[in-house]
Amino acid sequence: MPTLTIPGLIDVHVHLRQPGGEHKEDYASGTAAALAGGVTCVLDMPNTTPPTTTAERLEAKQGLARTNARCDVGVFVGASIDNADEIAAAAPHACALKIYVNSTFGPLRVDNWELLDRHVANWPATKMIVAHAEGDVLDRVLEIAQRHAKPIHIAHVATRQEIEMIVAAKERGQRVTCEVTPHHLVLTRDDLPRLGPFGDVRPRLAGPDDRAALWQHLDYVDCIATDHAPHSIDEKHSDNVPPGLPGLETTLPLMLTAVDEGRLTLERLIALTRTNPERIFNLPPQPDTTVEVEIGPRYRLSNHGLQTKCGWTPFAELEVAGRVVKTVLRGRTVFDGERVLAEPGSGRVLFAAE
Ligand code: NCD
Ligand code: ZN
Repeated sequence: MPTLTIPGLIDVHVHLRQPGGEHKEDYASGTAAALAGGVTCVLDMPNTTPPTTTAERLEAKQGLARTNARCDVGVFVGASIDNADEIAAAAPHACALKIYVNSTFGPLRVDNWELLDRHVANWPATKMIVAHAEGDVLDRVLEIAQRHAKPIHIAHVATRQEIEMIVAAKERGQRVTCEVTPHHLVLTRDDLPRLGPFGDVRPRLAGPDDRAALWQHLDYVDCIATDHAPHSIDEKHSDNVPPGLPGLETTLPLMLTAVDEGRLTLERLIALTRTNPERIFNLPPQPDTTVEVEIGPRYRLSNHGLQTKCGWTPFAELEVAGRVVKTVLRGRTVFDGERVLAEPGSGRVLFAAE
């Protein structure tokens, strides 16, 4: 079967759970999942325990990544209710600032407009601000970013209303970029009876018309990002279900299936998963970094044989037509189609102090 070679993917939205959530994932397991999925660089979110809300915590987290990560990792800092006047000092060493305007898993939340305004005003325009802003909240966030002339990236756009707001802002000339997740491109709330707690995620799975709107406006989408948010099977079966779905190992199979079915071009897939993320977040190049993929033969995704510690995928049993055959990072084979060969500590930590 002929294979194709594409650049290693950059996933700008993952939760690798270290420190504090190592029973769900850690840098070693999460970056193994990344390499098995053809992802060679990840940007890791700040809603850990404790959250990454100070320069000291950022440095400590980068130390953990340095000894454990198998692919390259950039680390986010998070906006909190009490760091608006200090966190900008950490910008040189962070990949970006994450602002949670809507509530989700973890305590990080900027819950009033004055505080959000202060965070956006203080953060330097040389690094990105990433906002979790759903529905009507998005309009207000776009207005604040525009007023401060700051570029802003909108995480996991999930509905027709949201993508249409972003299309309008782009057409007005605003410096706004956005990402969509594979789960919002593939699943809808119609899948919830089947998935139960394994379909519980923020933003929630939306309706078929929302999903159609994401595909329809794909030219206005800048990145495909997983929002890889692993939780254990026990936690998902508990009375207090945490929202979040793993995604690092299933993105290429799903998106290559869209290529196979003519809904996405390979060229556009490369822009969404490599060149746009690299440009938007000003990431260093990764020379000789490629993924060999196979498109065509159909098989079913499975909960078995995954590298992620959580051991499940919401896409189990889905038929796909794409597979990662090999991942090469800086000239070295780091995944051979079955095994991850890169050892913990072989990845680079981006923007870290020497
Ligand atoms: C994320 C998590 O579990 O950390 N959950 C989710 O449903 N997406 C948090 C987040 O990214 O909002
Ligand atoms: Zn997330």
